Amino acid sequence: MKTVSEEQTTKHHAIRSFVRREGRMTAGQKRALSELLPRFDISQQSKQKQKDFFDSSRPVELEIGCGNGDAVLAMAESRTEHNFLAVDVHRPGIGKLLIETESRQLTNISVSDLDINILLTNVIPDGSLFRVMIFFPDPWHKKKHHKRRLIQVPFLSSILAKLIPSGELHIATDWQDYADHIVNVLEQIPALHNVSENGSYTSRPTHRPETRFERRGLKLGHEVFDIITRKSS
Ligand SMILES: C[S@@+](CC[C@H](N)C(=O)[O-])C[C@H]1O[C@@H](n2cnc3c(N)ncnc32)[C@H](O)[C@@H]1O
Repeated sequence: MKTVSEEQTTKHHAIRSFVRREGRMTAGQKRALSELLPRFDISQQSKQKQKDFFDSSRPVELEIGCGNGDAVLAMAESRTEHNFLAVDVHRPGIGKLLIETESRQLTNISVSDLDINILLTNVIPDGSLFRVMIFFPDPWHKKKHHKRRLIQVPFLSSILAKLIPSGELHIATDWQDYADHIVNVLEQIPALHNVSENGSYTSRPTHRPETRFERRGLKLGHEVFDIITRKSS
C-alpha cells in the first residue's frame, strides 16, 4: 500500500511538468512494476526504513526524471558507497530500471514513480541530500508552455531545503533557451552558488554519464549545458 499518492499533489503544483504516457510496456516491465516496485519503491517503505535510507552514513544522490535509468545505473555501479534515489513518472522507464537493478544485483538504488513534488513534500527529509541531479528536463519549448517547466524558483527553493550544507545541484540541458532560464532562476536563489568561473555553464564532468536524451540532442547538433551549483556550507 502506497503511503503517499499522486492525489496528494498540492495546489501549488497543480501545473504539472509532465504528461503521463504509459506507452507500450513489455511483459518484463509489467512484471517488474508489480513484483519489484514494492521492494525498491521508497514511498512504499515503512517510515523507519525511509529514515534509515536518508539517515545512513552513505551520501544520498537524487536523480529527478531518470528516464530509463541508464545514468543512475552507471552512477550506482561506479559510486557503490553512495545511495541513489531515482524518480520518474514514466512507469515503463521505472520498469526497465528495476529489471536492470535486479539483474546487476545493485543494492544502493531506490526508486519512485511519483511526481517529485510529492516526494519533496512527504518523503525526503530536509538537509538529507548530498547531490540532486536533473538531466535533460522536458524543455517545454513553446512560450505558452514555459509555465510547465520543472525548474522554477519555488521548486528550487524546495530542493535547496533538502540539500545538506555544501550539497550540490547539477542540471544539464541541450536547450540554450532553457539553460538561460535555469541560470536566471538560480540567480534568484543566492544560497546556491554557481561553481562555473563565469557563473553560467560548465562542460560535462566525468562523474556524469551521457544520457539517452543527451545523445538525441547531440545527434540534432544541439550544444549541451551543465549547470552546477553548491549550497552554502
Ligand atoms: C526529457 S526526459 C529525460 C530523461 C533522462 N534524464 C535522459 O536524459 O535521458 C525528462 C523526464 O522527466 C520526467 N519528469 C518530468 N516531470 C517530472 C516530475 N515532476 N516528477 C518526476 N519525473 C518527471 C519525465 O517523465 C521524463 O521521463
